[in-house]
This record gives sequence, C-alpha cells and structure tokens, in this order.
Amino acid sequence: MKKQWWHDKVAYQIYPKSFYDSNGDGIGDLQGIIQKLDYLKELGADILWLSPIYRSPLADQGYDISDYYDIDPRFGTMEDMEELIQKAKDRDMYILMDLVVNHCSDEHEWFQKAMEDPDGEYGNFFYLEDKKDGKLPTNWRSYFGGPVWDELPGTDKYYMHVFHKKQPDLNWENPRLRQEVYKNINWWLDKGLGGFRIDAIINIKKALPLKDYPVDRNDGLSDISYMLKDAQGIGEFLREMKEETFDKYGAFSVGEVFNEKEDELKNFMGEDGYFSSIFDFNKEIWGSSDKGWYDRKAITPEAFKECTFESQQKGEGVGFYSNILENHDEPRGVSRYIPEGDVNEASKKMIATLYFLLKGLPFIYQGQEIGMENMIFESIEQVDDISTLDEYKVTMEAGFTSEEALQVVSRYSRDNARTPMQWDESAHAGFTTGTPWLQVNPNYTSINVREQLDREDSLFHHYQALARLRKSPEYKETLVYGTTIPYLREHKNLMAYYRKGAKTLLILGNYQRESQRVPLEWNQVKMLLNNYSELCKKDKEIILEGYQAVVLECLC
Ligand code: GLC
Ligand code: CA
Repeated sequence: MKKQWWHDKVAYQIYPKSFYDSNGDGIGDLQGIIQKLDYLKELGADILWLSPIYRSPLADQGYDISDYYDIDPRFGTMEDMEELIQKAKDRDMYILMDLVVNHCSDEHEWFQKAMEDPDGEYGNFFYLEDKKDGKLPTNWRSYFGGPVWDELPGTDKYYMHVFHKKQPDLNWENPRLRQEVYKNINWWLDKGLGGFRIDAIINIKKALPLKDYPVDRNDGLSDISYMLKDAQGIGEFLREMKEETFDKYGAFSVGEVFNEKEDELKNFMGEDGYFSSIFDFNKEIWGSSDKGWYDRKAITPEAFKECTFESQQKGEGVGFYSNILENHDEPRGVSRYIPEGDVNEASKKMIATLYFLLKGLPFIYQGQEIGMENMIFESIEQVDDISTLDEYKVTMEAGFTSEEALQVVSRYSRDNARTPMQWDESAHAGFTTGTPWLQVNPNYTSINVREQLDREDSLFHHYQALARLRKSPEYKETLVYGTTIPYLREHKNLMAYYRKGAKTLLILGNYQRESQRVPLEWNQVKMLLNNYSELCKKDKEIILEGYQAVVLECLC
C-alpha cells in the first residue's frame, strides 16, 4: 500500500458551536478553537475536522450553507479562519472543513435567483418540477420527515430537498453546478486546508427519471433509500471531483458514506478511490429500523464486535476506514455501546482501546476523550435538533406516550453529542461566560477536562496513551499497517484481535462486568497498556477483570 501523509495520524472532530466560546455570546467560535489548540495537541490529535462554519441560517446547524466563501459571523471572520489554519500548521496539525454540497441553504444566492427566474440559469442548479394535478412529483420521504418536495415560492414549481426544506438539493447533473463546487473546494485548499470531510455525499445521485417507490409508512411516503439503491453512476461525479480538486493538492478526504453498494468499497476508498477514506458506520446502522428510532434495537457487545470485525475484514487490502465511536449525529458512544448500569471509567477505557487500535484512522469526537455521556432530557423543549423533533413526532404518531417518546429521543438524539464541551466545574462547564445556546449536561461537575488533566489515570490520559502508542516509533508500523486478525471470536463478551505487522500485538477487552479467563497462544508477552493497575496472568492464561482491556506485545 502506498504510504500517505495521513495514515499514521489521529483525527479529532470539533463541533464548533459547542466547543469553546471565546466572547461570551453562548456560541462556540473559531477563536475558541485557537485557544484550545494546545489542549488538542496534548491529547495527540493531528487532524481537526470542523463541522460547518460557513455563513448559514443554522437551520440544520450549519449544514445549510448560504455562502461557501464566507465564515458565519457567529463563528468569527475569515481572518480567524486563516489564523486557525496557520496556528494549526505551526503545531503540525491539519484542518479539515466540512464539504456540504448535496444541498445548500434556501438563503443561498443561487436559490434566490432560481426563485426569481426558475427557467433561467440558476433554476437548473436545483431539482425543480412543475406542479401537476395537485400531485407531488414523487413520494420520497425526506430524512427529517415529510415529502422531499416543497413549493418554490412565487412560482408554479416544486423544489426537491432530501433533508430539511431549508436545504434544497443541488443538481449535480448540471456541469455548471459541478464546476462551481470544484472552484470552491480549490479556493479553500489554496488557503492551506488539509482536506475535507464530505457530507451526505451518497445523495448527490438521484435515480432519473423521477418515479415513486414502495410506500413504507402510513404517511404514504417512501424511504429515500429505495431511490438511492436505484441510482446508478455516482462514481462519475465523484471521480471528476477528486481529479479536479483533492488530487491536485494531496488533500485528505473522508466521505460520509452509508450503504455503499456491494463491491464498491474499493471505488470509494481503495488506493485510487474517490476518497482517501470513508467512515465505518457498520455499528451505527446496526439495529436501525425503517419505522424510526422508536423501533431501533439496542446494540449488544457481541454485535459491536461482529460489526467491527466485519468492517475490518472488508477493508483489509482495500484501504483505510475512518473509525469512530460517535459523532455529531449520533448519541454518545459510551452511553450506546456500554450496557446500561456498567458505564464507568474502566468500561470507557475498554471501549476506547478496542476501537482506537483497529486498522484505519481513529477519530475522536469532542468530549469523547473525557467520556461525555448522553443527556437526560426532561422535556422535549430542551431539544433543538430538527431530526430529533421529527422522530419525537413519529414516535408519538406510532402510539407511544410523551414520556416514552422522550425516552426514545433521549437515547438517540443528535443533541446528546451537541451539548457544550465540559471544560471545568465552573458555571456552564466553563464553555461560556454567557448563556450557552444548548444546555450543558448537568454531569459536568464530575466529568470535565480540568479534573481529568490533573488526574494521571483519567480517561483523557488513556486516550493520550493510545495516541502515543499508535505513533510510537516501535509500534507505529504495526498499528498503522498491520492486519487485524480476530482472536477467540466466538468467546462471548470477549473482544480480542491481533494486529500483525513487523510485530505482533494482541488487544483484549473483557466486554462484561464479570471477570473472564482468556487462553493465550504465547509464552512471553509484554504489557503495553492496561486500564487496570494489574493483570492476572498464569502461564498461558490470563484472567481479565470486568471491562479490563490490555494491549500485549507477543514475544514468543
Ligand atoms: C450529514 C450531517 C448531518 C446533517 C446532514 C445534512 O448527515 O452529518 O449533521 O444534518 O448531513 O447535511
Ligand atoms: Ca462566541
């Protein structure tokens, strides 16, 4: 495999609105990120992905862009952005922006022009359809509920939005639009970005001509995935984009790709793939249901293990997945993947160890390094996120009580991950001196950065140790390029795997509260990492305590 500059790095996702507020207006900002660069460096992060900070009405928290060439004043100015890129560089760090080009905002100039003159040039930047016999052009359901079609104000047409109605879809079939997108990407890369995380990209190719798909809920609509399965030829757009932009700069790109078609993995993240990498969402989609969040199955340790190994095997010899435990669209990983009642610092370290040392690029989402947990919502009023509000409605319509609906959204709400970063035990967790835009999780008095920086055996220091191990001259080659080989895969609630390269490393996690015996294939091992102070080993057997995780180098 040809080596790339980003292979041996550690990535970190920042959700700017909730990261750190430097001026007391309750909203995190670019200067806030600049102030925390040394903290991130200390953790071991090299690549920083920023969720969108472009000018935006924030209908979907910046994933609705009204000017691709500007910074939203709530986050700062272009000078702040340039300063951030420079100061990151000074520390050998790289900035990734979020590339949101399936759709823009309805407040973007292109859309405004399309409204003024739907038959003019900009009308063709979008999917516009004439109104016919009072029927919508298709029966597709948008991701955030309701049909994908809304009236184009002041005209006799509908426009398409697969997300919120303030996020009109861009028409990638139009070469003019594509050129505008590439121009913007290159403009940013010229400023010295390391690359992009590419948002919702699988949606850019629509199955044409438009048609209906099977109705799958009693709203009379059809899940968008039916149409996407039917859409052919996305590769032509993605290859063109890569060649006209990323390739020219050696930029890193990571795609938000769900459900790529079988045998397509190589096209997406192989050596000459459309992207450098794509996220492994196998365990995030496990247990999901067409009906909605209320019908989701909670994931078990065995399912976590199987999802992970399945992806590792799929990726082997193909390319580098980007590995996550959580992101801004998912609940907190520790609340999701650790059985209820067992969430504590030992189990948090175990789950961290298990995912971080997989083959691929590890991403840490802000707050994950200190083990931030899901919020307990007491009322739906506390929720800001549009997708959560829709799922609440869907749950109620399915006949659940409001308490039950609140429980469902508490489990899966995107706002779980969006509560402000917990810096210290002062008011609002030290995130802002003003009033935070979203309520801080009340557990900040015990879970916060300051406390963990001061304590040597904290989760923060465990993440730091994982990052150091992955980058250490001795083990780097093995941890970056070595193969993943599951060990004792059928042992219930044990997740174990080798990383085999120049060295042989064995990663073991006892995914339960009871202790567990684990036979070894080696006489002599060297302990590299342990989330307990001791390890019980007798000859070729070890006994792991509840949620104990160790990393061993196998010697002979
Ligand atoms: C992606 C983003 C999500 C956003 C959606 C629409 O899934 O991660 O936050 O709502 O795309 O842009
Ligand atoms: Ca601010």
